[in-house]
Amino acid sequence: MKEKLLEEFERVFGGTDDCRVFFAPGRVNLIGEHTDYNGGHVFPCALTIGTYAVARKNGMDTCRFYSMNFVNQGIKAVNLDELEYDKEEYNWANYPMGVISMLNEKETRVNEGIDFLVYGNIPNASGLSSSASLEVLTAFACRELFGFEMSLVDIALLSQRAENRFIGVNCGIMDQFAIAMGKKNNAIFLDTATLKYEYAPIELKDAKIVITCSNKKRGLGDSKYNERRSECEDALKSIQTVKKIESLGELNEKEFEEIKNVIGDEVKIRRAKHAVYENQRTIKAVDALKAGDIKTFGELMNASHLSLQKDYEVTGIELDTIVETSWTVPGVIGARMTGAGFGGCTVAIVKNENVDEYIKTVGDTYLKKIGYAADFYTVEIGDGPKEL
Ligand code: GLA
Repeated sequence: MKEKLLEEFERVFGGTDDCRVFFAPGRVNLIGEHTDYNGGHVFPCALTIGTYAVARKNGMDTCRFYSMNFVNQGIKAVNLDELEYDKEEYNWANYPMGVISMLNEKETRVNEGIDFLVYGNIPNASGLSSSASLEVLTAFACRELFGFEMSLVDIALLSQRAENRFIGVNCGIMDQFAIAMGKKNNAIFLDTATLKYEYAPIELKDAKIVITCSNKKRGLGDSKYNERRSECEDALKSIQTVKKIESLGELNEKEFEEIKNVIGDEVKIRRAKHAVYENQRTIKAVDALKAGDIKTFGELMNASHLSLQKDYEVTGIELDTIVETSWTVPGVIGARMTGAGFGGCTVAIVKNENVDEYIKTVGDTYLKKIGYAADFYTVEIGDGPKEL
């Protein structure tokens, strides 16, 4: 891989002296969806697929970006003083631009241009965080190239800031945190209210994590993500008129049921209900996993999907078809949509001996009902960013 990337770099930019090669993973969330901007818990893990970069300082005041995934876009060049979001002009390069702009916000950390070639093997717009992977990769590569100090948690926070303020998607911290803090064979149980976290080993022995990509494209910016977020904020404001809380994640199911009518709006009650119940499900799921009770973990995954479908309304026919078909296949311990929703991927835990049957049954049903194929990935849990 490294040789191939360097060869391409040489062809595109010329020379490979002083080049360094970096990698940042993608992520999949096992449970705890749309809880991270509600002060709740999430349980994601980093994957072994992700994004690679060859990077070097170029001695100019211009950054040059090139993606092997979007070759027809050529090199995107932008002056360090002119890092401004432009969807049409810069396209995918807005992500590294956003990160560099945040790195230089208070002090000049990136004080000369870089040449930056990237290649990703995360399916694009699939809900496996190809954009957060690229953000964390950029921050990590810049830290190594320019030698400033920044912890991995701060890299996650800075990358989230780039997404919020530069790209304009009001996402939570889950993706960037899962990627920056990834650990092989472990998921991360993260309390998004405090950023306290704990690694939990995922030892499935006789089962695998199977990701199904619906191939229904989804860009967070185009989706109703920001709308869901503000619906939850409105619900929280109403609750705060009668109870002193900072976030929906502070409530348990019983407290929510007693207080929910103050929200006043039926839709917003359902949105807040999802946030509260999903957070509690995540806590219970991690307890079950620690106790070796994978069956309960799977049931909670299934309940999570139903809540995202009925109360949060972020699934859609593609994801529902995959998940509902998954539930009919023998050996499926649990299945749900993962990520923001509205397209993208599902995640299932499937017994080893049933994986082939799973792929065939879900694949056939999906193609027949939706009219195009889904893709399947049996994935492994990998580490956070690194230099190769
Ligand atoms: C996207 C966001 C995350 C999180 C999920 C939903 O992946 O980037 O912050 O909100 O959606 O759980």
